[in-house]
Amino acid sequence: MASKRIAPSVLAADFANLQRDVEMINNSDADWFHIDIMDGVFVPNISFGMPVLRDIVKHATKTIDVHLMIVDPDRYIKTFADLGSNILTVHYEACTHLHRTLQAIKAEGMKAGVAINPHTNVSLLEDVINDIDLVCIMSVNPGFGGQSFIENTYKKVKQLREIIVRNNASTLIEIDGGVTNKNAKQLIDAGADVLVAGSFVFKSTNPNQTIKELKEIINT
Ligand code: DX5
Ligand code: ZN
Repeated sequence: MASKRIAPSVLAADFANLQRDVEMINNSDADWFHIDIMDGVFVPNISFGMPVLRDIVKHATKTIDVHLMIVDPDRYIKTFADLGSNILTVHYEACTHLHRTLQAIKAEGMKAGVAINPHTNVSLLEDVINDIDLVCIMSVNPGFGGQSFIENTYKKVKQLREIIVRNNASTLIEIDGGVTNKNAKQLIDAGADVLVAGSFVFKSTNPNQTIKELKEIINT
């Protein structure tokens, strides 16, 4: 079985020491950089935008996993491709023509992801599951780091895994929000492939070691 991945969320980094934190991730056991882009409309918060992503990409040596929490994401697909995004995830709730949006992301050479809010049922993805490279199940309401994990997520992961198997799809399942060493193993056992971790990594005394511990937990 392919190894399970950890994607530290740069949202929890120290933006005054961003290069240091990017290099910490480069030198750690982490697999991806998770980049949260918020527009203050789709979610009640504004994170950072293109200039910051450009500078992260300049230093990052791992996969760039961009999570767009913005309305009308189609407007920015090409921009995020040009900036160096490898995976571009849009919200199900922000897309009127999700199938078209997924094709547009792939046409720009990126992997296509779909994020779903805690209230969105995974069954809504069944008709496009073969077009989705990654489903990001939000285990908190999007907009902020440091929130508590919603326990209903385990059930959603299991249901999504069934849909993926039933359709013979190769979609990865990513979990985003409130991930810690307490829920990581149970999420993997339920069927997750990638765990995003923000506060748990960056608020720890030794982020590099925390990433290592998470990787060990999910791969044993
Ligand atoms: C929340 C973001 C998450 C966030 C996770 O809207 O999508 O990626 O950074 O942070 P933690 O791990 O602190 O919940
Ligand atoms: Zn995210």
